[in-house]
Amino acid sequence: MELIKHLQWRYATKKFDPTQQVSGENLEKVKKAIQLSASSYGLQLYKVLVIKDKTIRETLRPASWGQSQITDASHLFVFCNYSEIKDEHIDEYIQLKADIQNADLDRLKGYGDFIKSKLGEQTAAEKNHWTARQAYIALGNLLAACAELKIDACPMEGFDPEKYNEILGLSEKGLNAAVIATIGYRSMEDQTQDAKKVRKPMGSLFETI
Ligand SMILES: Cc1cc2nc3c(=O)[nH]c(=O)nc-3n(C[C@H](O)[C@H](O)[C@H](O)COP(=O)(O)O)c2cc1C
Repeated sequence: MELIKHLQWRYATKKFDPTQQVSGENLEKVKKAIQLSASSYGLQLYKVLVIKDKTIRETLRPASWGQSQITDASHLFVFCNYSEIKDEHIDEYIQLKADIQNADLDRLKGYGDFIKSKLGEQTAAEKNHWTARQAYIALGNLLAACAELKIDACPMEGFDPEKYNEILGLSEKGLNAAVIATIGYRSMEDQTQDAKKVRKPMGSLFETI
């Protein structure tokens, strides 16, 4: 199985080579893998910013614990979950589903109402966490796609979401920076690339019932 080999190859890159860029073609493949991510009900209640601009990334670096990956990587992905879920988001999804699957809109409306009623059971904070969790599934696909393409990546939570929201003007768009990832190519000086993977033994991670 090739995926296992790819996952063994990848590591959370600490030091990128700032001279190397991910090609436009590969970038589209990574974006496609994100687009194809599974999400609860299929709603995809998040948006992904792909930041190439160095000036913006220089501004974001102090808000990212000063981590060098932010500026040295080829691209920075910011996974932004919807901070609020509105009925119109569900309606948009139902409309899209009807269009793509050539399905009867009136029949799908019942499904939309079901989703709305289930989401109505959650508090605002629960909904915020829930949409953020969906974004993490997309992050996982980014990591797997990059590994297959031999693109280095670092998933990152070491940043201040409030500062990101402010700098990138996310709050006024109803978005919240949930998690970020940098992608590019490792620096040969990155010591981390030689470190052995630290993972729990299978026997302690899994339990078969
Ligand atoms: C959600 C998430 C957040 C992370 N945040 C950071 C981070 O801010 N900076 C960093 O250098 N590594 C970060 N990491 C990388 C982890 O430390 C790393 O994935 C873990 O130690 C396993 O090592 P490996 O990915 O190299 O196999 C993060 C990983 C995940 C999944």
